[in-house]
Amino acid sequence: MRLAALLAALLAAPAARPGLLEFSADEVAAIARHGPWPPPLARDASNLVSGSREAAGFGEKLFADARLSADGATSCATCHVPALQWTDRRTTARAHAQAPRNTPSVLNARFNRWFGWAGAADSLWLSSIRPLTDAREMGGAERHVVALVRSQADLARGYAGAFGRPPPGDDDELLADVGKALAAFQETLVTGPSAFDRFRDALARGDRGAAARYPVAAQRGLRLFVGRAQCNLCHFGPAFTNGEFDKVGIPVRDAAGAFDWGRYDGVKALRASRFNRLSRHSDDKSVAGAVSTRHAALNAGAYGAFKVPGLRNVALTAPYMHNGSLATLHDVVRHYSEINAEKLHIAASHPHPEPGEPLPPRPAESPLRTLALAEAEIDDLVAFLRSLTERNAQAP
Ligand code: HEC
Ligand code: HEC
Repeated sequence: MRLAALLAALLAAPAARPGLLEFSADEVAAIARHGPWPPPLARDASNLVSGSREAAGFGEKLFADARLSADGATSCATCHVPALQWTDRRTTARAHAQAPRNTPSVLNARFNRWFGWAGAADSLWLSSIRPLTDAREMGGAERHVVALVRSQADLARGYAGAFGRPPPGDDDELLADVGKALAAFQETLVTGPSAFDRFRDALARGDRGAAARYPVAAQRGLRLFVGRAQCNLCHFGPAFTNGEFDKVGIPVRDAAGAFDWGRYDGVKALRASRFNRLSRHSDDKSVAGAVSTRHAALNAGAYGAFKVPGLRNVALTAPYMHNGSLATLHDVVRHYSEINAEKLHIAASHPHPEPGEPLPPRPAESPLRTLALAEAEIDDLVAFLRSLTERNAQAP
């Protein structure tokens, strides 16, 4: 009797048992493109000390050193908190003043092609000196930082250990080097393999037993991700980003009524920067190394576009989007599920006319369509996103 009841329960609820969906050859190929992880670790040719242990050690000290800020109260780690996945759990960043954007994690930043939500930096080291020059972040600490590295014995020693010479007299050169040491440290911050990676590898080698250990809900979510929901059009490759900029219907106007034009302003800032890859501070003297910076287009498509973020460990880095406006992964997936032409056009409906600049034309075509997902499908996509968390991650 009890055995019969047990059998009946098992037959009635097959989904509750571990199992493996039948993935088509196309699906297996699409899934394989999200690996291997970690991908090969290439040196950054624009940074002479990329990959140097001494520089990474010096950079690690600088990252946590509040002396770098103008008032001695803020370090990089104030916003990129190690115990909070190198972000701050705030909607938008706050130190000296409220900044308009959400603090991204610096985990896996080394794999980025552009840095910051608008790609205003074309290298990890430029992205690392930008907060020193931003009054809202570390109080416009530029000149203060170079004086500090020259005058404080521990910092001057750290610099010499990393660069093999005492701090130079050229302020900009020294500031660039501070960014390069900070970058060498952040290059070491790479997430470990996740349940998804173990599944992907098992699937690739045909080990059905190991693959079946991946939760069925995550499998269904993954099938949606690479299939009907087409998330992988933008969240592509091992880091789940194509490295480019797009619009997904997140408003560009903040609570105070100010506009954030994203990539459009990012390209302007990048071109104006005296530390970009075209500058004398880049250690990559090849023409190819700066080709994407030279061609960064100030076109109408850049209006209101933001960087496609990578999705590894994303379950641990709420809130989401450039303005931190979506609180949970359920909110994010529901946003995509309900997206429509009207929502997508919000970003482009306000012209941004400045002398000599193009007006935004009609909004470009978007691959995004109303998905009208069932609640259970939303749960499945969230289960999949959660499976991108590395095994030993510290939950915030
Ligand atoms: C007040 C909070 C705050 C402080 C302090 C701060 N950051 Fe950030 N960081 C941010 C915000 C916000 C962004 C996104 C900026 C944007 O999109 O314009 C960001 C972006 C970045 C990025 C780009 C990440 C990516 O994947 O695109 C890097 C790298 C970075 N910061 C490193 C640093 C370093 C190094 C320091 C210390 C010198 C620092 N940050 C200090 C808030 C902060
Ligand atoms: C057309 C390209 C595109 C497609 C398709 C797309 N995304 Fe995104 N995704 C983006 C961009 C761009 C952002 C950042 C937008 C912003 O901040 O304004 C983003 C942000 C996110 C975030 C927030 C990450 C963070 O750290 O803040 C998640 C999660 C996410 N997408 C998941 C998905 C899922 C799931 C799908 C499929 C249902 C999907 N995306 C489809 C481009 C895309």
